[in-house]
Amino acid sequence: MMCTGVWIELSRLLLVTGTPGVGKTTVSRIIAEKLNGIHVDVAKVALEEGLTKGYSAEDHSHIIDAESLSRRLGKIVKSSTCDVVLEGHFIPKIYGFKPSLIYVLRCHPKILRLRLKRKGYPERKIADNVAAELLDTCLYDILSTFKSDKTVEIDTSKKNPAQVASLALKILDSRIKLREVKIDWLQRLLVEGGLEEILHYIESQAPRMKIR
Ligand SMILES: Nc1ncnc2c1ncn2[C@@H]1O[C@H](COP(=O)(O)OP(=O)(O)OP(=O)(O)O)[C@@H](O)[C@H]1O
Ligand SMILES: [Mg+2]
Repeated sequence: MMCTGVWIELSRLLLVTGTPGVGKTTVSRIIAEKLNGIHVDVAKVALEEGLTKGYSAEDHSHIIDAESLSRRLGKIVKSSTCDVVLEGHFIPKIYGFKPSLIYVLRCHPKILRLRLKRKGYPERKIADNVAAELLDTCLYDILSTFKSDKTVEIDTSKKNPAQVASLALKILDSRIKLREVKIDWLQRLLVEGGLEEILHYIESQAPRMKIR
């Protein structure tokens, strides 16, 4: 977490969240590098510093200690003289931050399924995450914690990580207006076909998810 940038009087805080596998870590590293800032993988900090309260076997996920993690991240942000990019799917659980912008990375459920498979996730966890992406879970979570006028969705499905980072920086620079991008995978899949197939896949792998 070294900062090599020149002194920036007003360092900015950027938050990057999204369903596992959408590319948060890959993209956040590029954004931080371009800004000469620091990149912080929130889950990594929580695990390495023991800021967790256990493990949920059902969710295949660690349970973070939101209070101590927020305090720790707050110290990192306050002590930084350069821009900070905090990223991870735990972002909606942390509090006490005033970000300049929050990016919610999105990915078409079919493409996300492939990315998670390539990442070696167990099939059940892939299905859970595909369902979460389909139902806008991360967006919903972030909007219940932070103001919507700071939040922007970016569709990563047909962009490589460098292109996603470049778009994120253009939005930050206001060279592209913070548009009301509303991603609706259910509607998209209804129009292009494939909704039945993806729902069948989710139900076959994660039977507790009865979303029809
Ligand atoms: N825009 C993209 N296009 C294609 N592949 C991508 C893109 N972004 C990331 N990937 C690939 O998808 C995989 C997941 O990326 P990454 O680990 O950055 O996701 P993440 O959101 O940080 O996941 P996690 O929540 O599990 O930490 C990696 O193999 C990465 O190379
Ligand atoms: Mg990651």
